[in-house]
Amino acid sequence: MAGNQTRKISAASARAHTRSKQKRGNSFTMIVQIAVGVLVGIFGFVYLAVRAPSPRMCGSPGGPPVTSPRVKLGDGRHLSYKERGVAKDEAKHKVIVSHGFDDSKDFNLPISEELLKELQIYILSYDRAGYGESDPNPSRSVKSEAFDIQELADILQVGQKFYVIGISVGAYSGWSCLKYIPHRLSGVALVVPFVNYWWPCFPLKLSKEAFNKLLVQDQWTIRVAHYAPWLLHWWMTQKWFPSMSAMEGKIEIFSPSDINIIKRMSGTPMEGQEKVRQQGEHECLHRDMMAAYGKWEFHPMDLSNPFPNDNEGSVHIWQGYEDKAIPFELNRYLSEQLPWIQYHEVQDAGHLLIYNATYCESIFKALVSS
Ligand SMILES: *[C@@H]1O[C@H](CO)[C@@H](O)[C@H](O)[C@H]1NC(C)=O
Repeated sequence: MAGNQTRKISAASARAHTRSKQKRGNSFTMIVQIAVGVLVGIFGFVYLAVRAPSPRMCGSPGGPPVTSPRVKLGDGRHLSYKERGVAKDEAKHKVIVSHGFDDSKDFNLPISEELLKELQIYILSYDRAGYGESDPNPSRSVKSEAFDIQELADILQVGQKFYVIGISVGAYSGWSCLKYIPHRLSGVALVVPFVNYWWPCFPLKLSKEAFNKLLVQDQWTIRVAHYAPWLLHWWMTQKWFPSMSAMEGKIEIFSPSDINIIKRMSGTPMEGQEKVRQQGEHECLHRDMMAAYGKWEFHPMDLSNPFPNDNEGSVHIWQGYEDKAIPFELNRYLSEQLPWIQYHEVQDAGHLLIYNATYCESIFKALVSS
C-alpha cells in the first residue's frame, strides 16, 4: 500500500517534471526563434546597405542611350571610344589614353591639332569599364585593363604597337600593360600616377609617411577599398562619416596651380562629362578603387625594362611636386629604383598637371620622340 502510494507520487512528480521541462523547452525554442529572426533582420538590413544596386547599362531598356562608337569584346562587353588627331592609317604614332578617376574618354586633352599633325599622332581614348558608355565589368581588375586595351586596339586595327598614357588612377592600366602586354607597347607615360600604398616594394616608413599626408577621410576610404572592398559601396554612400574628399569637391586636395587650372577650366564646357557616372557610381568609381587599391598580382619592381635596346621606346612618369592627391615621394622612389623609367618631377604643378597645355604637349613630345 505504502509502496503503491509512493509510486503514485513519484509518477505525478515525474509528469510535473516533464511538463516543466517541456515548458522550458518551449521558451528556449521561442528565444532561439526570436534571435534568429533578429539576426536575419540585421543581416538583411546590412546586406541591403552593403549591396550595390545593379547598373543602368547603356542601351538597355530604361538605361542611358548609346551615343558614341563602341566595340564589342570577346566576353560580350562593349567599350566606347573616341578618336582624335591624324587618321589611324596615316599616323606615325598611335596613342591610347586611359583616363583618370571619375573621368571619361571625353575629357579635353589640351594638345593642339597643329602639334598632333606635326608629330603625326593619332589619339584613341576610351571609357574604362563601367564609365561613360562602356559596359561594366563585374570582374574588373588590374589585369583586365591591359586586355581591354589590347582588344580595343586589335578590333580597331590600331596596329601591332601603340603607346599608352595612363592618368592618375588610370595609371594602373599603364602598369598593367607593362606587366601583361609589354610586347605591344611603343612607350608608356604614367601621368600623376596613383600609387598603391601596399605595394611591397615601398619601404614601410616611406609609404606610411606618404599615406599620412593624405586627408584622414581619404585614408579611411583607401583602407576600406583595400581591406573591405565588399563594404566600399556602403562606405561611399553612407552619410555618417566623410568618405572621399574628391567626391565632396573639397578644395584642400588641390595645390595653388591646380586651383588656377580649375578656374580656367570652369569657363569651358566639358562635353560628355555628364555621362561619366550615368550607369551607377559602383560600376565606375567603386570598382576602380577596389581594383587599384586591392591586392596586386605584381608590383612595379617586379617589372623589367620593356625596351632594353636603345630607341625602341621609353617609359615616363610625370609627377607634380605639389600634388596633394599622390605624394611625390613614392613615385620619386619608384623611379630611383627603376632606372629605365624617365622621371619628370614638375616643380610647380599639382595633380591636374596634364590639364596645363604646356605640360600636356611636353608629355606627348617626350613620349613619341624616343
Ligand atoms: C602652365 O604651366 C606654365 C609653365 O610652368 C605656366 O607658366 C602657366 O601659368 C601654367 N598655366 C596654368 C593655366 O596654370
